[in-house]
Amino acid sequence: MTRRELLERCVVSGALVLTTSLSLPALAAEWNESEKKRKPTPYCELGPFYKREAPHTSTLWAPGDSGMPLALSGVVYGTRGEIVPDAKVEIWQADIDGHYDIDGYRFRALLSPGPKGAYAIESIVPGHYPSRVCQHVHFLTTAPGHKPLITQMYFATDPVFEGNPDKNYTRDPLINSRDLVRPVMIKSDAQRSVAVVTFDLVMETV
Ligand SMILES: [Fe+2]
Repeated sequence: MTRRELLERCVVSGALVLTTSLSLPALAAEWNESEKKRKPTPYCELGPFYKREAPHTSTLWAPGDSGMPLALSGVVYGTRGEIVPDAKVEIWQADIDGHYDIDGYRFRALLSPGPKGAYAIESIVPGHYPSRVCQHVHFLTTAPGHKPLITQMYFATDPVFEGNPDKNYTRDPLINSRDLVRPVMIKSDAQRSVAVVTFDLVMETV
């Protein structure tokens, strides 16, 4: 059933009383539009370990790396729910021991999501490091006509949250929004288990 048909049925049954001058098709279009709108991804600070000119790769993991494999993906949207097709997504994170590669480019990547706005990386779940409370992955996303989006993604499974990120996410003072803490799904096959996380990036226009 389309939104318009639903509205018509509700008006006929008395479930919906209209006090608007909008026609039903216009109202249905407005309703559809409002459901597609997305909240901008909250800012979270850049931190001291950002490096320009990261390699164009979706594979941050390398043979011999220890740590839980991570498949992290998402879509770059605008706040009207539209795809931002020409974005650049820079990602960097610590290794399992909580170290950033300052001299080289391990666990750093620059991605070009393309016409569908989708990005994906294969990595490991980063370790904790002394000056930060929670495990996290950094993002810097840029696109023509949009404000640069600087943020960090967190894992709902982080031991710091003790299984209750709703209550405990502020234990890391840099986490200013629950939205930055993402659920983790473990996928296993005969060879290995992978932590699967999605993190969409919603950019504001300039
Ligand atoms: Fe960091």
